[in-house]
Amino acid sequence: MSILFEPLQIGPYHLSNRVIMAPLSRYRASLDGVPPSYAIDYYSQRASAGLIITESTAVNDWGSGMKAPGIFRDDQMAVWQTVTNAVHAKGGRIFLQFWHGGRVAHASLMPEGRDVAGPSAIPMSGKLMTPEGMQTATPPRAFSLEEIAELRSDYAQAALNAKTAGFDGVEIQAANGYVIDQFLQDASNQRTDDYGGSAENRTRFLMEVLEDAIAIWGADRVGVRLSPAGAFNDAGDSDTLGTFSVVIDKLNALGLAYLHLIHEMPGAPATPEQVAINDALCKRWTGMLLSNGGFDADSGAKHIEAGKAAAIVYGRPFIANPDLVDRFRTGAELNAVDQATIYGGDQRGYSDYPFLNAEVPSEKND
Ligand SMILES: Cc1cc2nc3c(=O)[nH]c(=O)nc-3n(C[C@H](O)[C@H](O)[C@H](O)COP(=O)(O)O)c2cc1C
Repeated sequence: MSILFEPLQIGPYHLSNRVIMAPLSRYRASLDGVPPSYAIDYYSQRASAGLIITESTAVNDWGSGMKAPGIFRDDQMAVWQTVTNAVHAKGGRIFLQFWHGGRVAHASLMPEGRDVAGPSAIPMSGKLMTPEGMQTATPPRAFSLEEIAELRSDYAQAALNAKTAGFDGVEIQAANGYVIDQFLQDASNQRTDDYGGSAENRTRFLMEVLEDAIAIWGADRVGVRLSPAGAFNDAGDSDTLGTFSVVIDKLNALGLAYLHLIHEMPGAPATPEQVAINDALCKRWTGMLLSNGGFDADSGAKHIEAGKAAAIVYGRPFIANPDLVDRFRTGAELNAVDQATIYGGDQRGYSDYPFLNAEVPSEKND
């Protein structure tokens, strides 16, 4: 039997396997961030994953991209509660991933009175998805100290809300060039106050968010996602290894549930230099490690067997395969992803992918 199907203890949770579902934004929420009712089907269909990590979920209404769900209002929490109930009813475990876009934003998506802002007034090069299609990101202004404090308290409230909505834990998204990653890396952070300059200072916002989340959840129910070698959303640092070594050292002291490291992103295979950075950082980490990026059943099992991670996080394979765990277990073929329905739309290409055992996806309409 593949090592992927050996159980794993993460924090207080006994996971039945090491096939973890990655956060996957699918942009089916309403424009004001309420997840669709059929998210209940989508997530509960995938409850056989050792652990589900939800799509990026906004902590407030001024950092979200298009049609991403939020966790800052009661109506959002009510739907999430039905999702967590349904996953638990099938014996699954589910962590909520928090999100704020920072400079990865467009003025047309900001509420009245809010500007696009990030750690520094450094525009991101490249485009982001909006309801009007791909658009150039609006150049940000730098956060004031008051805004940073407000953002911190929004993360803390979101951590409390996630607990109220029945999640098993939370994942702090500090990867992929979103706001926490923008603080960490000097390509997006040239602040001269306590939140910029040294790697220690650039790590401050992440540590503050973690301090609050840990106070609410306990460290063993809080995970962190990092993408040190990634360049998604124009992320970058003049000394990646140095910066993230400081980050890892600080995280090592916290006793977190896990570190979730992205080795590579779709369409961007890791270069030998990036592999070396990832390897060095993984060795530096002393806790539970989840690895993600480009794995299949075979390479994932080999990665764990080599002692390089405790579990593998699968993204794209979970889009079209609600029963990915069974398919990996039996060596069955995977369903192909319908590219046209990855982002936005309705149940089609979301909660209607077929199971091997012909479990009929629910026909619930929103
Ligand atoms: C459609 C799609 C949506 C994604 N949404 C998120 C997200 O909300 N949060 C996040 O941290 N990563 C997100 N990612 C990145 C994935 O979690 C994962 O890191 C990436 O797909 C690489 O893993 P894979 O090779 O197993 O697919 C997304 C990726 C895809 C393809």
